[in-house]
Amino acid sequence: IDVKRIRNFSIVAHVDHGKSTLADRLLEITGVIKPGNENAQVLDQLQVERERGITVKAVTASLNYSYNNEPYLLNLIDTPGHVDFSNEVVRSVTACQGVVLLVDANEGIQAQTVAVHSLAKRNDLVILPTLNKVDLPRADPEKVKNQLKSVFKIEPSDVLQVSAKKGWGVEELLKAIITRIPPPNVDTTDHFRAHIIDTWHDKYRGVLCLAYIHSGTLKMGQTVKWKSDVKQHTVKYLALLRPSEESITEAMAGQVVMVGLGTKGGGSVGDTLLSPEATDGKDTTVPAVRHMVYAGIFPADQSQHTQLSDSIKKLSLNDSAVSVAVDSSPALGQGWRVGFLGLLHLDVFTQRLLQEYKAEAILTAPSVPYKVKVKGAKIIKHYKGEDVIVTNPMQLPDVSNIVEYYEPFVIGTIISPVEYIGAVNTLCIDRRGNPLPSNAVDDQMTMLQYILPLSEVVMDFHDTLKSITSGFASFDYQDYGFHPSSLVKMDILLNGVIVDELTSIVHISRLEYNARTLTARLKEMIPRQMVQVAIQAVVGGKVLARETIKAYRKDVTAKLYGGDITRRKKLLKQQAEGKKKMRSVANIKIPRNTFIDVLKR
Ligand code: GTP
Repeated sequence: IDVKRIRNFSIVAHVDHGKSTLADRLLEITGVIKPGNENAQVLDQLQVERERGITVKAVTASLNYSYNNEPYLLNLIDTPGHVDFSNEVVRSVTACQGVVLLVDANEGIQAQTVAVHSLAKRNDLVILPTLNKVDLPRADPEKVKNQLKSVFKIEPSDVLQVSAKKGWGVEELLKAIITRIPPPNVDTTDHFRAHIIDTWHDKYRGVLCLAYIHSGTLKMGQTVKWKSDVKQHTVKYLALLRPSEESITEAMAGQVVMVGLGTKGGGSVGDTLLSPEATDGKDTTVPAVRHMVYAGIFPADQSQHTQLSDSIKKLSLNDSAVSVAVDSSPALGQGWRVGFLGLLHLDVFTQRLLQEYKAEAILTAPSVPYKVKVKGAKIIKHYKGEDVIVTNPMQLPDVSNIVEYYEPFVIGTIISPVEYIGAVNTLCIDRRGNPLPSNAVDDQMTMLQYILPLSEVVMDFHDTLKSITSGFASFDYQDYGFHPSSLVKMDILLNGVIVDELTSIVHISRLEYNARTLTARLKEMIPRQMVQVAIQAVVGGKVLARETIKAYRKDVTAKLYGGDITRRKKLLKQQAEGKKKMRSVANIKIPRNTFIDVLKR
């Protein structure tokens, strides 16, 4: 096939605006699947996607389509809709020359429409604005065309209209993909170079990679090497994904293909695959991922450590957005500190661990990463630079060495009906937000933007926003980097001894509230002991909140007075075993479950 007849494109949209349904129609028209199965959603392969009805992984399909009697190869790269998975969207667009920007003709522009539009703009992609769901009686294409004009300056005459469900307008869309999106601008005669946009693990064949070929050709059996390594490998598997595999013997620049180098071949997202004689001139790197939320993951039982470790390794190969570091805690044992893009990402990751790998894990409360500037960096051996990123409050350097704290901020975009603007502004200000200029979408909807601390957004911002606007507002955010902030380290002490696992980093405006609620929760959860227990929340030597648990002598055998001796022994043995699972702080025995409950969200 001639490169001029390749089109690489992606469908981008707000959640539920119909990407997967449209992808199904495209697959039908191009003969990949049989028509009639309305809710097939072929590209949503993972179980968790089916259950939640959202697309998590970006999946590719190479489609054959004939236009003016010429054969075309259309590479559709399906992308997830949710903000947490925006890195998958970012990766997909690096292989694309254009996007179908899908907007529900009933709902109109939503926060995520704004985000994906600006992503496409930043990457110089051709945008095909397309209204979907025009079959719905309440659809108002003219109104949404006006929104597209006022927010993105898109001319109404450039806007396509489809019903992905009914299949209306889909042929016209395919024609627009061919006539309006340019072919990839690549050199097929140069040395082979490809970058990896996705990887997954196959039990028998090892790592399989989805690669976008930037230059040259790739043949089955050919020798290749990774940019990051001198070792040479042989191409063992080469296929088009339609979306099921179709083996091929050769692929060329401009194509998106599946490549496997066998069980020892390796491969990771963002890496570059080269022919041995290629010097890596061109920059084909994929943008780095920024982790927004960290949480501890521990095996439910330490005996399951190896199995969980294995599962996490395999899953993180497929979900390259996570970062995994070894972590341990006296209370919870050996585990990992895992970085996620957001809370939904965290949920999906743990759900996939459970469903695909049958691994049960305990999750600690998620927190955002912080940054601190330390003085005399050289004398603190452990840290290289002046700035230290802290992903676990337990690992904060000695506060006397901290010159300044920084926390991550985001630019939040909210699209809301005008009648809720007051409530939305109140919420944002309450969450320490700083307003940016707002914009009218039309006479009923407004776009508000705020600079917000990420820590205030990741917890329940989205849910609260939905509930104060009766579900009508939408929200999306983009990274705004680290900025100085009035943060402090809050310790929890039991009878004067710090419990590392319960240390947190708190903004001063939230200090009193957090100190009171945490000590009160601990009072409820820690069982009574032989001695009185004082629970204190302390910042810089000052006690902010205090609770006391009265002493209590617990004798489990008391009620068996005069009872059967074997029964009595059995009970004492059970009690002794229970103690093994305890973490002891200042002679206070705290069951592992208490930590799990306090640290869980
Ligand atoms: P995410 O993967 O979560 O981002 O969603 P999506 O954008 O892929 O949306 P999906 O295709 O799952 O469609 C969401 C809902 O809209 C489903 O219930 C579809 O049946 C429905 N839908 C999609 N296209 C149309 C359409 O043209 N008309 C009507 N009436 N409903 C549609």
